[in-house]
Amino acid sequence: MAAKDNVLIIANRLPIHRVRSGRHARWDTSPGGLVTALSPILKGSGSGWIGWPGGTTGIRTFKHDGMRMIPIHLSSSEVEQYYHGFSNATIWPLYHDAIRTPTFNRKWWKPFVDVNKRFAQAAARVATPRQRVWIHDYQLQLVPKMLRELRPDLRIGFFLHIPFPPEELFAWLPWRREIIEGLLGADLIGFQTTADARDFSRAARLFTSATGTDHALRHKSRPIKIDTFPVSVDSHEIERCAADPHTIGHAQELRRRVGASRRIILAVDRLDYTKGIDLRLLAFEELLRRGLATVDECVMIQVASPTRETVSDYVEMRTTIERIVGRINGEYSIPGRVAVHYFRRSIPRRELVAYYAAADVMMVTPLRDGMNLVAKEYVSSRLDHSGALVLSEFAGAAQELRQAYLVNPWDMDGMVRSMDIALRQSRKDGRLRMGMLRMHVRRHHVHQWGRDFMGAMPE
Ligand code: ADP
Ligand code: G6P
Repeated sequence: MAAKDNVLIIANRLPIHRVRSGRHARWDTSPGGLVTALSPILKGSGSGWIGWPGGTTGIRTFKHDGMRMIPIHLSSSEVEQYYHGFSNATIWPLYHDAIRTPTFNRKWWKPFVDVNKRFAQAAARVATPRQRVWIHDYQLQLVPKMLRELRPDLRIGFFLHIPFPPEELFAWLPWRREIIEGLLGADLIGFQTTADARDFSRAARLFTSATGTDHALRHKSRPIKIDTFPVSVDSHEIERCAADPHTIGHAQELRRRVGASRRIILAVDRLDYTKGIDLRLLAFEELLRRGLATVDECVMIQVASPTRETVSDYVEMRTTIERIVGRINGEYSIPGRVAVHYFRRSIPRRELVAYYAAADVMMVTPLRDGMNLVAKEYVSSRLDHSGALVLSEFAGAAQELRQAYLVNPWDMDGMVRSMDIALRQSRKDGRLRMGMLRMHVRRHHVHQWGRDFMGAMPE
């Protein structure tokens, strides 16, 4: 985005967050796809970014990467009730097909409203007249309406990075009307897929007085545009990184360490139950059990970054994954040939690209995902068009990356089959598929996404 586009960003997290280790604290890149997408398009733009810096210590406004960081303070009970509670134990599971039962706790609603209000008030204070404000994601769905009431002059856009649920599921939410009315405060509401946009428009007509079509609603005499903007990655930057001799050397070193002749099956996720990590490991176990592959021929590497670690469903998921990894390794590893390498940590971006470059097969098999940028990052890293992407039908990315090996992650036979086919694909077929995937991601990169969204905002 060009500097002239000066836009004010509001997201739950700032692009960097404060991490405490013992008595020391340092800044680290914030986790997740939202920050991966927004950081490159805003870098050096002079834009303001309102967000939580992590933790509970108060921090003043500061500069980072040519942007103005405007920190929002949360108390420890707000972290518990607004962030871990309403955002991540109510909305997150509900919007991801309710694959974990959402908790509807009445005590979490007020902190959710209060924190949304704090974000809106901060934006109302710093926004210049008629400035464009871009609000992000499920934690801040009430901000558009709150901000419009405080500053009717602003032009307000909202983008939901995660799926919007079908009306039968959304109807469970005791605060469904308030949430939709909150969103309808925007001029433009963007979604990842056409299904998300359609489901939202239907819910708006069902649960509020809004009227109109799937693309244009009217509420309280105001027009609201609804559209689809599939988020993407900075493909040129990833390509540059993949072509760097350091990255190439690192990828070769990785291959050498796990055994140069072995095929690498890679998976990279936040350690989230929506990502289907457990089912994917079970599929690999079955591949070995059926003798379709041996540990001499292949190895699985799962990199999982810790996330939302005090929410009970995440604690359970971690235990399950670690049990399965232990079982597979106990059963199938032999000296010098570990079956599954499991790294529970966040790794620097450069290193991540080296992992992508080293991997023969990339498994991206979430049970539900708004988009999934890991799939697009892998594709961008495959400079020579080698490699294979196995992709869940239930990731938003599957709407675009049609030449991937599409799979239903719940179908164990289908998962084993796809892994097997991807491992054995012919060079010619593989290159053809990867060439088309790369072309798509190159054309639909994240800078274009930012321009498309801003271009759809009212003048
Ligand atoms: P989500 O937003 O749900 O986490 P995405 O796949 O859209 O899912 O985005 C995840 C982002 O986080 C990607 O940019 C990916 O590179 C990064 N990421 C995921 N796992 C790790 C990890 N273990 N270490 C470093 N970065 C990671
Ligand atoms: C997803 C969400 C983001 C969130 C990120 C990391 O990408 O869409 O809104 O920031 O996950 O999760 P966290 O809870 O650590 O912010």
